[in-house]
Amino acid sequence: MSTEPILKITGLSKHFGGVTAVDNVSFELKEGEFLGIIGPNGAGKTTLLNLITGFLKPDSGKVYYHGENITALKPHKICELGMARTLQMVRPFYNLPAFKNIIIPLCSPRSLKFSGSQYGERDDIALDYLEEVGFERDSSVPYKPAGVLPHGYVKRLELARALAMQPDLLLLDELFSGMSMSEVASTMFIIERLRTKGISIIMVEHRVKELVRVADRLLLLNFGTKIVEGKPTDVISSREAVEAYLGSSQEVE
Ligand SMILES: Nc1ncnc2c1ncn2[C@@H]1O[C@H](COP(=O)(O)OP(=O)(O)O)[C@@H](O)[C@H]1O
Ligand SMILES: [Mg+2]
Repeated sequence: MSTEPILKITGLSKHFGGVTAVDNVSFELKEGEFLGIIGPNGAGKTTLLNLITGFLKPDSGKVYYHGENITALKPHKICELGMARTLQMVRPFYNLPAFKNIIIPLCSPRSLKFSGSQYGERDDIALDYLEEVGFERDSSVPYKPAGVLPHGYVKRLELARALAMQPDLLLLDELFSGMSMSEVASTMFIIERLRTKGISIIMVEHRVKELVRVADRLLLLNFGTKIVEGKPTDVISSREAVEAYLGSSQEVE
């Protein structure tokens, strides 16, 4: 088995005008590892994921994926390599039925390579992915336009879309926000199953309690800087975490 990290980022920085959103952040992720990223609002978490996935280009620093420098690649190229993400601000194709939203990633070269599906079988495969996130194929839900689904459903649709890319690295940005307690519980179950399949995961999440349960490691960001990284229970009880959350009038949940 390779000892090379699946992801390595070195000295990533991003400024927006006078704001330093991400400031010289470095870390590595081993294959199959689960990293949780926490930090108060505005800490730079989403910007960091955008830099990793190619949605934004860094002012300085590099992103290596499977040892390859992908810093200059466009998001769709990075996704083709096996890195999929969900967005904090969901962006499904609102007018398309939920299952048609899954057909789009299923037509990607990467997905075709894995599933080898024929035209016509894809509807079935799309429905399989939706069932994985709890949309029963015998119900009306998969056939409704994404735009009429409640927010928690759209978040799960996002997850299904990412899974249809057959990722080996999955980045989740506040997947649980807008979900009910029972949706969170069932989604946690899906995520734990993905782990057992060996998928590497980076999860940005406000629900720190859930993260502590599943993550191998936590990384705390504040003001764009990596403040502390380590064992989840150590990180959340650290003085730095308490200060970061008290300073922003949010609490470590
Ligand atoms: N596109 C942008 N243009 C200008 N400022 C931005 C942009 N995206 C993020 N920022 C700023 O960068 C900082 C980090 O934001 P963000 O990465 O969204 O934080 P988080 O996800 O941790 O809440 C914030 O101060 C935010 O206002
Ligand atoms: Mg964010």
